[in-house]
Amino acid sequence: MEVIILPSATEATLAGARIVARVVRESPHAVLGLATGETPERLYAELVRAHRQEGLDLSRVTTFNLDEHVGIDDAHPASYRRYMQEHLFRHVNLRPDRTHMPDGRAADLDAACAAYEDAIRAAGGIDLQLLGIGADGHIGFNEPTSSLASRTRVKTLTAATLEAIRARLPSGTEPPRHVITMGIGTILEAKRCVLLAFGERKAAAVAKMVEGPVTALVPASALQLHARTTVLVDEEAAGRLALADYYRDVQRNKPAWQRERDGS
Ligand code: PGA
Repeated sequence: MEVIILPSATEATLAGARIVARVVRESPHAVLGLATGETPERLYAELVRAHRQEGLDLSRVTTFNLDEHVGIDDAHPASYRRYMQEHLFRHVNLRPDRTHMPDGRAADLDAACAAYEDAIRAAGGIDLQLLGIGADGHIGFNEPTSSLASRTRVKTLTAATLEAIRARLPSGTEPPRHVITMGIGTILEAKRCVLLAFGERKAAAVAKMVEGPVTALVPASALQLHARTTVLVDEEAAGRLALADYYRDVQRNKPAWQRERDGS
């Protein structure tokens, strides 16, 4: 895992957006795995800016979101389709038929999950997966004790995750308890992962993900098994990393060719 500690969430966000933009410029048909939540909001704003001001062309890009709630339509405030429309889709030239979300309203949810896996495979797999991390160490909505081999399926959110989601919704809006999420096995098949985490609230989860044992109790720790994961954190989220000085040293001494290759 490559850990990049930046002075602020803004700088970490811009670094993440640069990686995404570079992948798209180099591979106009790139398949992007997208995340929702507070963390990637500014990254999407930066992609919108790059689209408007620098001509970043997303017209041939395909996207797959990590997760969606079960049983709500796109108008519901908790809908991740709605989130993506608001923060990215309606501002850029992504083709609507190439933006994929798990179908949380399907009559047969198991079939919808299998179809999502099929669609990712048919698109050639995910080139770059954006990730956040829950304070409990979840990636996607793979809550603690999720199988490290899991595929896209229905999960039940923990009370703490539900509370974090509720806090972002208009008061009185109740998010559904159930979601469809890509599995950990699905995420691990992405060619590259970029995980962003900001703030002291994420520091313990980040330390366990990077430096703890690989365990289903901390689903993000499975990324230790992924060959090309970049973790972009601000100082607060890096606050509990035992080897923080080493990670800084690695970045300071990163060879130019590696920077060029990684877009960092
Ligand atoms: P957040 O969520 O960006 O809203 O903190 C991250 C996550 O739960 O994966």
